[in-house]
Amino acid sequence: SNLEGSIHTADQLRHALSEPAHRLRRGQVIAFPTETVYGLGANAWDESAVQKVFQAKGRPSDNPLIVHIADLTQLKEVISDPGTIPGPAKRLMDAFWPGPLTIIFPAHEKLATSVHPGMDTVGVRMPNHPVALALIAEAGCPVAAPSANSSGRPSPTVAETVLHDLADRIDGVVDGGPCQVGLESTVIAVTETEGVVYRPGWITPEELQAASGVPFTLDPHLKGEGDKPKSPGMKYRHYAPDARVWVWWGDPVDVREVIAATIADHPELERVALICPADFPDVDGLSARWSPDPNAPYENGLGHELYERLRWGDKIGADALFIVGVEPKGHGLALMNRLQKASEGRQFHATPSRQEPSKP
Ligand code: TXA
Ligand code: MG
Repeated sequence: SNLEGSIHTADQLRHALSEPAHRLRRGQVIAFPTETVYGLGANAWDESAVQKVFQAKGRPSDNPLIVHIADLTQLKEVISDPGTIPGPAKRLMDAFWPGPLTIIFPAHEKLATSVHPGMDTVGVRMPNHPVALALIAEAGCPVAAPSANSSGRPSPTVAETVLHDLADRIDGVVDGGPCQVGLESTVIAVTETEGVVYRPGWITPEELQAASGVPFTLDPHLKGEGDKPKSPGMKYRHYAPDARVWVWWGDPVDVREVIAATIADHPELERVALICPADFPDVDGLSARWSPDPNAPYENGLGHELYERLRWGDKIGADALFIVGVEPKGHGLALMNRLQKASEGRQFHATPSRQEPSKP
């Protein structure tokens, strides 16, 4: 269904969504918009529906799904002990729900096993999107939903991309236009005394600390330490376009020279694209360039469109994409986490003294 047009009240929205909601409830898999990325939804109580989600995406079966709820009453249906929620978690729900924050809790026994395979916890989130909230409320069940992409590909932030990856493997997509945030939610766990960020997102560690009143640290694997991430999804190759991605920093004049030299040194790189600020100078040998809208979310608007632009690289047949990096601080932490994975670590900082990209 397409929701463009004039739907004004929550009731009208629920009414417009009654058909996909009913199908979701009955075990079909339906993609829908959230404020972060599109999700591929299944009734979280229905084991065979949840398994269809794994099949459609080609998702490794040990990677748990986030369960989406429309209101706090539904929390009781997805977590095992609502009476013992730590104070800091309550404060975070107050501050950031609905919103791009996923909190790990002990799981309710009624949830389908595949939602949290081999774990006794579940990630829960109340998305801040009127269509997602109305769809879940109308379905009347918690909705398990990973990002609605083929596993390993960049997450979709428009409905067309969901269809590109999954059209013949899902039962439908609710088109709610482009997602506002553009990168996936922050995934955390929190106790009475401390919190851990498993996956960085729009809500920053500083904001979590301020709102919860307890210190937050990054899961060691986010800093390249520790052997096994607590969040299974973080160990897989991700966000990978077909093109080789390099992340760069430095003075545009120096960067331009490094890129031109890399193109000259690598004849196999026939089509090279650049993602850079609008005022970046021209580069010899470049096939395409694009500049983000600096007013969109995430540092200089890059995070907001990153995923669709990685796919754009593939669409134009780019062999290499050179993408401007940011400082891994604040919102930049999530953006650099995704860029790190998309580039598989290829990055360079161009200065007059050092003009060689790493791992060419
Ligand atoms: O913004 C989002 O979070 C989007 C939208 C659709 O809500 N969803 C999303 O889902 O990104 P997915 O499946 O692509 O990523 C979920 C992440 C994975 O890294 C997974 O391992 C982690 O959350 N996760 C889920 N449940 C967990 C649990 N019980 N313990 C630790 N990590 C968990
Ligand atoms: Mg995903």
